[in-house]
Amino acid sequence: MSKNIFIDACFRKPTPYTPIWMMRQAGRYLSEYQEVRHEAGGFLNMCKNPSLASKVTLQPIDVLDVDAAILFSDILMLPHEMGLDLVFENHVGPKFLEVITSLDSIKNLKRGAFKDLNYVYETISLTRAKLDKSKALIGFCGAPWTLATYMIEGQGSKSYAKSKKMLYSNPETLHALMRVLTSELKGYLDSQIKAGADAVMLFDSWANALEDSAYMEFGFSYMIEISEYIKREHPRIPVILFPRGTGNFLHKLNGNFDVLGVDYQTPMEEAKHKAGSKYVLQGNLEPARLYDFDAMKKGVEHIIEIMGKKEGHIFNLGHGMLPDLPRENAIKLVELVRTLSAR
Ligand code: CP3
Repeated sequence: MSKNIFIDACFRKPTPYTPIWMMRQAGRYLSEYQEVRHEAGGFLNMCKNPSLASKVTLQPIDVLDVDAAILFSDILMLPHEMGLDLVFENHVGPKFLEVITSLDSIKNLKRGAFKDLNYVYETISLTRAKLDKSKALIGFCGAPWTLATYMIEGQGSKSYAKSKKMLYSNPETLHALMRVLTSELKGYLDSQIKAGADAVMLFDSWANALEDSAYMEFGFSYMIEISEYIKREHPRIPVILFPRGTGNFLHKLNGNFDVLGVDYQTPMEEAKHKAGSKYVLQGNLEPARLYDFDAMKKGVEHIIEIMGKKEGHIFNLGHGMLPDLPRENAIKLVELVRTLSAR
């Protein structure tokens, strides 16, 4: 057993309790975060300032006492450094001012852009130096499919019409974009690990937009290529995949990775049955349960009952924290998981 229970759990080693962290654990529900964001003069400035980004990365460790910190940044910083102007407007969400429409626009994207993300690597080394050894630091990126949809649509979408039109009518154009992103993301995660990340996570938040055959060809195949590259280069670094909305075909998601993130729409029983013997599962409390202590407690009891007080599970939310969730319940969630899962 090492000193780091999150890393032990990623490798299915025994731990004294089920480790916990929360997606979007740093964010607007914390007044400390709001203060730093205000001081920085916006979200992008905060991401590009290693001292402020590191401060925000550490806030959930101090406030919640979670077992892992996650780098404070955004999945869209990489496409931004590849040449797409990005704005984060209050209450609107992120928006690219230029979009990818053709092979020509793909040719214009900067190659080797991952080398321009020094502010991310500095945030990681600053944070790792300050973080207690018993806590893990997770680096991350967006999976190629999710990044591609933002680069093609320009912003979040309900129908993903432009991305799907490219997928079915110009598949070679989409494959060309995916290859460029895959190559950048290998360099990006490799550099995050060299800067001090103890584990890495790939977010495929819009995997749910595709039918399974299209997802396997255009989404999962590229995500797994990145994962297998990282496992070859850094076998001791756990790789976590979060292919959101793929609960119905979890059994098809095979390859070299360690932890599978489970969204809250996939019953944990089903995830356990389809993938739990192959991969450690991470998840999957519905974040909205944190609005009410009793609802949250019921949700936690149910998940722990299914996963058992055993190896093979990392507690998390089934998607990100919401901006208006009460912090007291986030603090109580960590205490509850520790108590209920104590071996
Ligand atoms: O605490 C953490 O989880 C670490 C930091 C983190 C952020 N974004 C900070 C952030 C991580 C890991 C992400 C990943 C991310 N970003 C994803 C994948 C995970 C998911 O949620 O499915 C996606 C799809 C994005 C793109 C993105 N960034 C969106 C859609 C939004 C707007 C939504 C919102 O909540 O406003 C962002 C902005 C963003 N990224 C915020 C934070 C804390 C809110 C920014 C603010 O302060 O206004």
